[in-house]
Order: sequence, then structure tokens, then C-alpha cells
Amino acid sequence: MTEFVLQVNGASMRVEAPAEESLLSVLRYRLNLTGTKYGCGEGECGACTVLLNGKAYRSCRVSVAAAANAGITTIEGLERHGVLTPVQQAFVDEGAMQCGYCTSGMIVEATALLEENPQPTEEQIVARMNGNVCRCGTYPRIVAAVRRAAEGGRA
Ligand code: FES
Ligand code: FES
Repeated sequence: MTEFVLQVNGASMRVEAPAEESLLSVLRYRLNLTGTKYGCGEGECGACTVLLNGKAYRSCRVSVAAAANAGITTIEGLERHGVLTPVQQAFVDEGAMQCGYCTSGMIVEATALLEENPQPTEEQIVARMNGNVCRCGTYPRIVAAVRRAAEGGRA
């Protein structure tokens, strides 16, 4: 076991874990941040997406050791003082979820997209969100939510 001090959602969190343990596992099972979901465990579904220094990463494919020097943001760290971000609010307004299992990863991925490209085209939204799997097939409403957030909530 190795002791790490992770910067998660603006707070320093001390945790002991094997250096090769996935960031996803550490977040969920050692830090109790269960908003980040386990889907495939192989980097293919996007359910586990978090931000590392503002960029989207599959936390199932990042070791805790590799994440130790990054600023980590999970779905729990997006809202501020109970106020949802524009992306979160747009997902609510569009009803862009059914079971909700993919939603954390979708919102984090969309947050990274709009940070990199605040005015994406429809094609760019589809291409980017295509890497995140929704078993419920809510894709049209997810795309609409990202468009709504990009348009400042006026979709
Ligand atoms: S659980 Fe990480 S990409 Fe599927
Ligand atoms: S809403 Fe169920 S997996 Fe996307």
C-alpha cells in the first residue's frame, strides 16, 4: 500500500491504496465518491469519466499513482453551493436520462467538450459524445442537452 494525497473537487484527500489501483476504484471504494460509475472497466463506455486538470479521462484506465499530481474533478465537484452547472441544468431540463447510470460520465464528458469548444456544431457534439455509451438509448436528448448548454440554456 502507498499513501497518496489526492486533490479531489478542490480538497486534499489522503488515501492508502496499491499504486496500480485504478482511480475509479479509489474514488468509489476508498473515498466513497460513488457518483462516478463502473461500467466496462476497459475504457470503452465512459461511465467512469472524470476531469484531470480539466480534461476528460476514463478513471478505470488511470492508476491512482498517475492521478496523484492532478486536480481531479468528479461529478460531485461540478456544482457550486447547490447550484447546478449549465451542463447539469441542461440535462435536467432536457430529461436527458432514463436509468441515469451513464449520466455522470455524460455530464463530465460534455463539460470537458464545452470547455475546449464552447460552440460545438451538432456534428462535433455527436462525435464527442459518441464515445460514451447509454444503454437506455437516450442519445437524442443527451445531444439536445449539450446543445442547450452550449447555447446558454436557450435550446
Ligand atoms: S468503466 Fe471506465 S470506460 Fe467503462
Ligand atoms: S440513461 Fe440509462 S444508461 Fe444512459
